[in-house]
Parts: sequence; C-alpha cells; structure tokens
Amino acid sequence: MMKTVSDISALRSQIYQWRMAGEKIAFVPTMGNLHQGHSSLVEEARKQGSKVVVSIFINPMQFDNQEDLAKYPRTIDDDKQVLEQMDTDLLFLPTPDIIYPKGLENTSFVEVPALSDLFCGQSRPGHFRGVTTVVNKLFNLVQPDIAIFGEKDFQQLLLIRHMVNDLFINVQIVGAPTKREPSGLAMSSRNNYLTEHQRLNQAPVIYQALTLTKDAIKAGNSDFASLEKQAINHINEAGLNTDFFSIQNAEDLTDAQSGDTTLVILVAAFLDKARLIDNLAFTV
Ligand code: PAJ
Repeated sequence: MMKTVSDISALRSQIYQWRMAGEKIAFVPTMGNLHQGHSSLVEEARKQGSKVVVSIFINPMQFDNQEDLAKYPRTIDDDKQVLEQMDTDLLFLPTPDIIYPKGLENTSFVEVPALSDLFCGQSRPGHFRGVTTVVNKLFNLVQPDIAIFGEKDFQQLLLIRHMVNDLFINVQIVGAPTKREPSGLAMSSRNNYLTEHQRLNQAPVIYQALTLTKDAIKAGNSDFASLEKQAINHINEAGLNTDFFSIQNAEDLTDAQSGDTTLVILVAAFLDKARLIDNLAFTV
C-alpha cells in the first residue's frame, strides 16, 4: 500500500523509521501529470532503492509566468493510481504553504552561478533558482540516498549535480534516459497542450533535427554555426518557432569547440504557446 503524506512531521517520522532500519531511500521529485517518462524514473528508483519516495509538487517558484502556473495540468487521482501500480512506498504531496511558509519572496534560496543564466535560464529568468531551491528543500525533507532525474531536462540535471557537489549534499544523483513517443517526440506534460496534428506531424521535427545534426557531427562536420542555422531553418519550416538550437560542451555548456569530445545539442522551440525542449548528448 502506498502511503500519501502532506505534512512535514508525518514525512519526517516515516523517513526516520526507514533510516533507523537501514533502508535505502530512492527519491523521484516530480510536478505530477505523470507519463511514461516519469514512470521510467520510478522504475529505476525501484531497482536501486529498498524504499521509493515520489513527490508531486507544482513548484510556484520555478514558474516565471503566473498564467503558466495556473494552467499546469493537475491530474492527482490518475497520478496516484500510476504510483500505486508501480509499487511506490510513499507519495509526498505538500501544498505551497508547507514548502514556502513565509511566501516566495521571503525564503532562503539556492542558486548555482553561471549555469543558471544560460539557455532555459535566459529564456525563463529565475526558473533555475526555483528548481534548485525546491530540490534542496525536498532533499532535506526526504533525506534520500539516491535521487533520479531525467536527461530530458539536461540543464536541470547538470545544475543539480553542481549544487550537490558544491554544497556537499549527501545524495547520489542518477540520470535516466529520455522516454520518447514512436515519432521521436520527447514525452512531456507540455505535449498535452498540442493538437493531434501538431503532436504527430510538427513536433517530431525537433528530434529529427537533433538526430540529423548529431549524425553530421559524428561524420566529421564541425562547422557548428552553420549546422545550428540549418537545424533552426528545418524546425521553423515545420511551423515551430525556435528559441535556441545550440551545440555545446556537455560538461559546462560552453560553446562547443572542434576537438571537444562530449557534446550536447540543446533545443527549445515554441509550437503555438507550448514551449518544447529536448536535447541529445553524445561523444565524438
Ligand atoms: P517534471 O517536469 O514533472 O519532471 C520530473 C522528472 O521527470 C524530471 O527529472 C524530468 O527530467 C523527468 N522527465 C520528464 N520527462 C521525461 C522523459 N520524457 N523521459 C525521462 N524523464 C523525463 O522537472 C521537474 O518536474 C521539476 O523541475 C522538479 C525537478 C520536480 C523540481 O520542481
């Protein structure tokens, strides 16, 4: 039976019992509206831990736009069913006033320098401060041995690794591969904003452009600037509006130099109002 708790003292006393019993706690933080991408993280947690904790919290601090926050899909009954079926031990389901009792403006925060301001951080100011702050709060509450994050949010995963390193947080961070639809489109709660036509015929161009670019680089093309331009044209011709498509060093997200061996291509593109992100990391 999965236990659901909202308040901090109930959570802490369960965690205390498990830690005393020597259980290995594996944690998956989410914002709910669970799809197969999330399930794959829970599966990984089930493999690696003796107790699995999942949190569902739509974190207001990481939304730069109140409308976006209000519209974020909330499907808690379905989510609970999914988690129950996956043999989750505990669902932590707090409300905003539990996580931010003094309000968003008056709370201490965690910010990873430099990396937070690039790419998704540039398009969404304050977003990554919100992510690292809430993940830090959740780590302090859940006290996991390991935590699983999707490679789908490549920059987020990198930031969390930096935060954990910088602050000596005793949690092992595990990255899990991106789950995709048969078309290649990365699974995302934001795909719910798309019409069927957009989902099947337009959005998959993002992954096509990523793969084509990766193949070209692997074949020896290191004219990154023109590869980026071609990819942006390709995506925009399908009716999307590319925010960025950038070939970067996968370790620190600086611009890729020919000769770099670990690369990542980061992309964000709007399809109407839905902002879709994806990436492809690889070695050359
Ligand atoms: P959310 O978007 O709900 O994602 C929760 C976790 O699922 C993240 O680690 C994300 O990378 C992973 N994920 C999403 N889509 C995926 C896919 N297609 N394949 C594999 N993994 C996928 O990311 C957040 O929530 C929040 O920022 C959070 C970390 C919970 C902090 O609020």
